[in-house]
Amino acid sequence: MSTTTSVTIDVIRQHKSIRKFTEQALSPEQRQAIMASAQAAPSSSFLQASAVIRISDPALREQVMALCGNQAYVGSAAEFWVFCADFHRHLQWVPDAKTGFAEQLLIGAIDTALMGQNALTAAESLGLGGVYIGAVRNQPHELCDLLRLPKGVIPLFGLCLGYPAQDPELKPRLPASLMFCENHYPAQFDAEQMQDYDQQVRHYYHTRTGGNKDMSWTGQIGETLAKEARPFMLDFLQQQGFCIR
Ligand SMILES: Cc1cc2nc3c(=O)[nH]c(=O)nc-3n(C[C@H](O)[C@H](O)[C@H](O)COP(=O)(O)O)c2cc1C
Repeated sequence: MSTTTSVTIDVIRQHKSIRKFTEQALSPEQRQAIMASAQAAPSSSFLQASAVIRISDPALREQVMALCGNQAYVGSAAEFWVFCADFHRHLQWVPDAKTGFAEQLLIGAIDTALMGQNALTAAESLGLGGVYIGAVRNQPHELCDLLRLPKGVIPLFGLCLGYPAQDPELKPRLPASLMFCENHYPAQFDAEQMQDYDQQVRHYYHTRTGGNKDMSWTGQIGETLAKEARPFMLDFLQQQGFCIR
């Protein structure tokens, strides 16, 4: 019989975002192991179209936190890394490289996300915890100025890392049957399964918030998708030299 368990699978399946950390710092060796894991991620056309900025200066961290909707854990995590798509580096070595294509945004975003997830999984395998911070895209112009990101570089997400000071419940995911399909996209989804899942999510929020949050998954996506998020994004991308063709 083939094996279906491993330490790696256990770590991945136990993932939960951590938003409260102790004050303990990571050792340089831990940081290096996480960085090496991030860099081991596959890379589209081997372009390695990513840059990661570690925010170690406390005053700068405060400013970055303010730009990330003041999420406290951006300030309190032992580590905060900003993951960027980067096509600026290529132009250093190949000045006549053609950049600005929409496809390159996808390449940069995918490469960088793979690195981020490798970093988080590596950290979790060391007993650390973390949470991604999409809010680095809340005020992207200001963040670019602060971190001196040149044209060709855009912040995609941040990653808080540290020793967990909380142990939240696992957040229930969609039933696999609603996400994985075979050969063709399903013509229709099973409404009953979705209702069950809505109940699970409602129960999860109820428990996590001591009864203060009454929200289903369809309710949540309804709220999130009721309006355009970050309507300045296309202008920002184009100003940074992405998606101009
Ligand atoms: C790209 C990305 C950006 C995110 N941004 C934030 C954020 O700004 N603040 C936050 O508290 N959580 C953020 N999250 C965490 C999600 O809310 C979380 O992963 C999701 O609710 C599932 O919960 P879990 O990670 O505990 O399983 C982000 C996650 C991803 C993948």
